[in-house]
Amino acid sequence: MLRSVILAAARSARVERLVETAPLSRDVVRRFVAGTDTAAALGVTRQLADAGLAVTLDNLGEDTVTPEQAQATRDEYERLLGALAEAELTGVAEVSLKLSALGQRFDEKLAYDHAYAICVAASAAGTTVTLDMEDHTTTDSTLEVLARLREDFPTTGAVLQAYLRRTEDDCRELAKDGSRVRLCKGAYKEPEAVAYQSALDIDLSYVRCMNILMSGPGYPMLATHDPRLIAIGEDRAKWFERAADTFEFQMLYGVRDGEQRRLAEQGYVVRTYVPYGTEWYGYMMRRLAEKPANMALFLRALSSR
Ligand code: FDA
Repeated sequence: MLRSVILAAARSARVERLVETAPLSRDVVRRFVAGTDTAAALGVTRQLADAGLAVTLDNLGEDTVTPEQAQATRDEYERLLGALAEAELTGVAEVSLKLSALGQRFDEKLAYDHAYAICVAASAAGTTVTLDMEDHTTTDSTLEVLARLREDFPTTGAVLQAYLRRTEDDCRELAKDGSRVRLCKGAYKEPEAVAYQSALDIDLSYVRCMNILMSGPGYPMLATHDPRLIAIGEDRAKWFERAADTFEFQMLYGVRDGEQRRLAEQGYVVRTYVPYGTEWYGYMMRRLAEKPANMALFLRALSSR
């Protein structure tokens, strides 16, 4: 119930204005967001790399409604990739991007063209791109863009969401040689017709999808903080005799930091998803929806100023 309310608020411009103008403690946003600019993103990447973690960087922005905004997002990714190369961080860092931030909602071709240009920049910098997955109305379009990008940039990855009923089939489709798939539970409010609703059904779907990906020839990226799913991931890695460099665990910046380091110390590849940028509102609200304790932290910060 609380999750539904927060996710509805995540899409409300009125609530967004209220939250953004509230004297919000910087510490709360800073827990999940690296900062507002490229320099801050680079600084956090360096810190995480020093701690033995790999990184994927996400320039926050999902309410792109004009071609100018889409172009600005592309410009920032190109700038970021240049800066990562210059700082010699492309060995540990890739980028994640939302096609909606590149204009997918109003011009699919424009979003594809921008994503293509970002893949060119990533390839020149010596790294790669993973496409985030947004609400279910965009899944087909995102997977089509992925297939086209992979023709020229075969390491381009995508996210699949275990809560969608279609995802087992998508996993089978994508569990191919060299294919990078980030498997997460799913963060949007979706109707029952397309998505499992109970935590148990979502977890069971996650395990079925993980079995498909971990037994296949692709490169699975297990994106979860759920201790049971992580343990099952470790078990499947042993069962399917996967070498440590053939799959990854992935978690969000600011969530279960100790567990991220523990897994890395055990020899697993662990990648931290690091968002940065000024448009943190939607991202932040989805993180709050995931854990009521985060909401308490957020409200305390709001009322303490
Ligand atoms: P779950 O939410 O059940 O949490 C399990 C445990 O982890 C909790 O009990 C708690 O201990 C801890 N935890 C989880 N979330 C926390 C939080 N915010 N704060 C503190 N503790 C927390 N979604 C999507 O729809 N599209 C996408 O493209 C992506 N991309 C993505 C990339 C990466 C690298 C990750 C890790 C996640 C995503 N997600 C996503 C988000 C994902 O769908 C999901 O909403 C969150 O990962 C939370 O689900 P868990 O699997 O962690 O389990």
